[in-house]
Amino acid sequence: MIDRRTLLAGAASLALPASAQAAPGLKEIAASKGLVFGCAAATYEFGNGDFAPTLLRDAAQLVPEYEMKRDVLEPRPGRYDFSALDRLSGFARRNGLSFRGTPLVWWHSNPPWLAPALQARRDDRLMTGPIAALLKRYSMASVDVVNEAVAEDGNGLRPSVWLDAFGPGYIEMAFHAARQAAPGTRLVYNDYGCEWGSGDRIRAAHLKLLDGLLKRNAPVDALGLQGHLWAFRDRTDQRKLRDFLQAVRDRGLAVLVTELDVDDTGGPADIATRDRAVADEARRFLDVALDNPATQAVIAWNLSDRYVDAPQDWKLKLLNWRYRKTLYDAQMRRKPLWDAVARAFAGARARY
Ligand code: XIL
Repeated sequence: MIDRRTLLAGAASLALPASAQAAPGLKEIAASKGLVFGCAAATYEFGNGDFAPTLLRDAAQLVPEYEMKRDVLEPRPGRYDFSALDRLSGFARRNGLSFRGTPLVWWHSNPPWLAPALQARRDDRLMTGPIAALLKRYSMASVDVVNEAVAEDGNGLRPSVWLDAFGPGYIEMAFHAARQAAPGTRLVYNDYGCEWGSGDRIRAAHLKLLDGLLKRNAPVDALGLQGHLWAFRDRTDQRKLRDFLQAVRDRGLAVLVTELDVDDTGGPADIATRDRAVADEARRFLDVALDNPATQAVIAWNLSDRYVDAPQDWKLKLLNWRYRKTLYDAQMRRKPLWDAVARAFAGARARY
């Protein structure tokens, strides 16, 4: 991915042909129910001429795929590089899309200088500085203030530079800093695992975390479910998901599906079969997620399989495996997943 980014960065043009806004897309179907459909995109993807027109047909909201990560934003201490984010947010503004941020505080994708700096001086500003800088520079509909703070096995909090430096209180510190910088932006706690059938402990850990934050008056507005689904592995248990989302709603929080894609690892070589399973799993998930009135937006984690990294696993590499996770194939043709998302929106009850 890095190669393509570098290769295409220079060529990338964010200009658009006039045909871009022609046919109705997911955004209209979602909007007819009071829902938002958005998509993550990376700057290098705009280097292909078919990317922006397709994105604009479907997406009402744009999310930076990697450009807001701390290692890209602040490669050297104190020197912010907003160039890639400026391009994405400029594209969104010019084309009438809202902008959503992710992530402000994450255990991953931090620059190498950050951990030693935090160890040397436990200075809040190493966390709150970029929160304020980003929220003041960009107008965001919502933002993932803290991403993936719960341990993968649901047992307490995940080890991170933030937990090391500030203890568990880092989460509410981040939310307070975000609220102060952008009172009108919806503040999201974002994570994965609550979607999966196996996620009992993770769901319980999230409710506990949210209860603690709400009890201490941390300004959390919504839970972000990443929505990285599995077509052939850990499928959604609809009843468990329904109960969990009800519990989130009972706490007065909104729900956003922030990174929807469907991993087809474990499926057969036959592409049509995988595409059907991917679409079916999305339908099973969205039917439940959209049935809860607290759920207000669905963001796809990338538009097209063209931009999904090849697998790392050597067995899959030998098979020349290409993932079928997203709405469009590498030739920018709609896949059954697109239809499944469209149908889920069309069948959702209206929010007004
Ligand atoms: C990933 C991006 O897709 C990559 O391009 C980047 O290098 C690392 O981050 N969960 C998240 C997202 O919350 O921010 C991650 O995005 C994927 C997993």
